[in-house]
Amino acid sequence: MKSTLNIFLLASIALLFANCNNETKNEETATETTEHIMDTHSYAQPDKAVMTHLSLDLKADFAIKQISGTATYDIRVAEGADQLILDSKDLDIQKVTVDGKEVAFTLGEVKEIFGQPLSIPVSEKSKKVVITYATSPSAEALQWLNPSQTAGKVYPYLFTQGQAILTRTWIPIQDSPGIRITYDAKVAAPENLMAVMSASNPQGKNGTGVYSFKMEQPIPPYLIALAIGDLEFKSVGKRTGVYSEPSMIASCAFELSDMENMVEAAEALYGPYKWDRYDVIVLPPSFPFGGMENPRLTFATPTIIAGDKSLVALIAHELAHSWSGNLVTNATWNDFWLNEGFTVYFESRIMEALYGKSYAAMLTSLGYQGLVESVEDLDEKDTHLFLDLAGRNPDDGMTDIAYEKGAHFLMMLENTVGRQKFDAFLKAYFNDHQFQSMTTEKFVAYLKANLLEPNGVEVNIDEWIYGPGLPDNCPVVSSERFDAVSEQATAFIAGKSAATLKTEAWTTHEWLHFIKAMPYTLAIGQMEDLDKAFGFTNSGNREIQAAWYKLAIYQGYGKKIVPAIRSFLVEVGRRKFLTPLYSAMIESGMKDEAKSIYQEARPNYHSVSYNTLDDLFAKAN
Ligand code: BES
Ligand code: ZN
Repeated sequence: MKSTLNIFLLASIALLFANCNNETKNEETATETTEHIMDTHSYAQPDKAVMTHLSLDLKADFAIKQISGTATYDIRVAEGADQLILDSKDLDIQKVTVDGKEVAFTLGEVKEIFGQPLSIPVSEKSKKVVITYATSPSAEALQWLNPSQTAGKVYPYLFTQGQAILTRTWIPIQDSPGIRITYDAKVAAPENLMAVMSASNPQGKNGTGVYSFKMEQPIPPYLIALAIGDLEFKSVGKRTGVYSEPSMIASCAFELSDMENMVEAAEALYGPYKWDRYDVIVLPPSFPFGGMENPRLTFATPTIIAGDKSLVALIAHELAHSWSGNLVTNATWNDFWLNEGFTVYFESRIMEALYGKSYAAMLTSLGYQGLVESVEDLDEKDTHLFLDLAGRNPDDGMTDIAYEKGAHFLMMLENTVGRQKFDAFLKAYFNDHQFQSMTTEKFVAYLKANLLEPNGVEVNIDEWIYGPGLPDNCPVVSSERFDAVSEQATAFIAGKSAATLKTEAWTTHEWLHFIKAMPYTLAIGQMEDLDKAFGFTNSGNREIQAAWYKLAIYQGYGKKIVPAIRSFLVEVGRRKFLTPLYSAMIESGMKDEAKSIYQEARPNYHSVSYNTLDDLFAKAN
């Protein structure tokens, strides 16, 4: 008995040494050994056959709104498996070869949200799959803009939006965030335009329109991105810069002049930036989001170009995703809070480092207000951090719950163990799981083992993650700057005239807090007084405009400023602004105006926005 035990012990020690020697190797092959988690939003069966590298050779044809060419995959097939299954939606699959031989592929049943599975016969020995395909003019990821929808009005423009499950509408792919690939691409665009991707990028036009790209770090498919337009580049720091149309490049570079400092602040918090360069492309106003964290190249809305750098928290947010989301990725869309909650927390820490505690406190306070409203509005089951989105569009999970309840959960943890320990924990978390996907369950185990147990603390994790609403220990950040604003708001509501309010040195966020503090019961005269004193209707700041128009519509002043609301909605395609404004009109006697504006504006919107709004109008009828 004793000797067998000794032998066992010796063997274990030998194994341990062998493991140590292999450590670096294990790290390099980490993606190869990843166990894949069931993702109900993808047809892929990565445990049977999985892609490891993608090579694109594509042409963008603006005349017929079509991307066409080949997607070549390196694949790895498990023992006994005989099929590679990819996601595809609205794609014209023309030909498939496996290791040079044409094969008979099948396309399965079409499902409205998910598209259809593309099954390709393979064997254990199969290495390379080439798919020849073309996109449809209505591909949901793509927005093809006419020259009139750009700043320059001369050239057309194209951009993609992959998250959450739209990449499958422009590339046949295993479209699950739990799968990672490296990629390279050759893209042929019209010769006077420039193409950029979530990869190594050109910094000037080359006159041919043909550009090559490489992304050498493994990324999930939703982060593959492409934009083509009349673009110019301007450096703002040693590894940071901005792309935009030429007429906007100077104002964009001015607005985003703090990017290099942001990268440095982020690194000081949670470790080295692993993606080489960090650039931002400021897109035309129809971009449906504020920002999208495409690696190496954040895609951003031009509505953050306010002229006074007051909306740059959005850049801190997208930059933070370079750790939370792009380095450590939610394994499925049910784990979305691991991307966004961590990112909102991290964003706030970057903003605090650059602009101080009082600034960050205003952002957090605005976030908390939104969170409380969302908890009231949403179905109880959608207020859990860990979601069950099976059968639903993962877009449904894009609420303040993932973002703000997630961030407040991390703030609660920080408060419990102290900032120093919490920062060390987060830094190790990003480092230990880099280029891997993360499930909620795995995070909870890591949190217990590496933060809670070592510090002997117990917290109500299950209530936060698997329960509804806001637990009692949800931190509430107060803001003295907002308290001062609230005082002025109260005085105004009670009858003080707008011109006599103390508003010196107010920044965008103070103005937003002020507008949001106004009740819908204000008299029309008071609305006119505010507008005369502060010029909200014609503000150059899109956030202020959106908040003011919403108040105006609910209060009854909206009918007086219809032309301003119309031109805002026709020009701007950012969904976060559109949904509240159209809803407000539908709910408060401006349904006819809403319909008429939507009819004019809809052709300018990306599918992400018009799909949401089509639903909204369908429900309103
Ligand atoms: N990754 C998101 C955008 C997204 C989420 C697109 C889910 C598709 C599906 C991005 O990082 C984001 O959160 N953008 C926010 C801005 C941010 C400052 C809260 C936005 O677009 O409003
Ligand atoms: Zn985000």
